[in-house]
Amino acid sequence: MEIKKSTESDKTEIRNVHIKAFGEEKGPEIADLVEGLMNDNTAIPICSLVAVEENRIVGHILFTKAKITETTESVAVQILAPLAVLPEAQSKGVGGQLIQEGLIQLKKAGIELVFVLGHPDYYPRAGFVPAGALGYDAPYPIPAEFAGAWMVQELRNGFIGRVTGKIQCSEVLDQPEHWRE
Ligand SMILES: CC(C)(COP(=O)(O)OP(=O)(O)OC[C@H]1O[C@@H](n2cnc3c(N)ncnc32)[C@H](O)[C@@H]1OP(=O)(O)O)[C@@H](O)C(=O)NCCC(=O)NCCS
Repeated sequence: MEIKKSTESDKTEIRNVHIKAFGEEKGPEIADLVEGLMNDNTAIPICSLVAVEENRIVGHILFTKAKITETTESVAVQILAPLAVLPEAQSKGVGGQLIQEGLIQLKKAGIELVFVLGHPDYYPRAGFVPAGALGYDAPYPIPAEFAGAWMVQELRNGFIGRVTGKIQCSEVLDQPEHWRE
């Protein structure tokens, strides 16, 4: 399996991965979100990686630019959304490797904090910790019962605990429907 930056010609396959992974009901909405983010100037810089197995894309991860508002310090921030792996390729480490490679590339690019709204039992495996209790408010309020799903990871020591504030994501991601779960 190889992980590489996505290209324009991967668009159809990436769409297919999200539809298959998230299912017929939610998948098209997620696939549209990905396409929207790829064309969103406020999401730049983005990091879009694909996992390729036998010339076929089996996984995709996207990180886009975010900001921290209501803070005193400038911090380089990204949000991980979404991540998907084809059902038949799941539980083989593809998702984990996409996250790790993404974090390596973001760190090289000088990113300091990465946020994710996702499965609270999955992302801690990749080093994420609950963000709300650390003073990071999500773009839209997260109901208390899902508080653990809003997570952060620092790529450079010293930010967590020192810098807090409210996260503002790119325009395309800044829609309430993307923050409901
Ligand atoms: C979540 C997802 C990306 C994981 O990809 P993957 O390649 O299967 O992940 P990995 O192989 O790195 O890790 C698999 C492990 O994560 C666990 N896992 C998968 N989804 C999980 C979830 N929602 N909550 C907790 N654990 C989960 C699996 O049970 C497996 O555990 P095991 O190692 O003990 O067997 C993939 O299942 C997927 O595409 N799901 C549908 C779309 C989705 O929910 N995306 C994430 C949105 S936040």
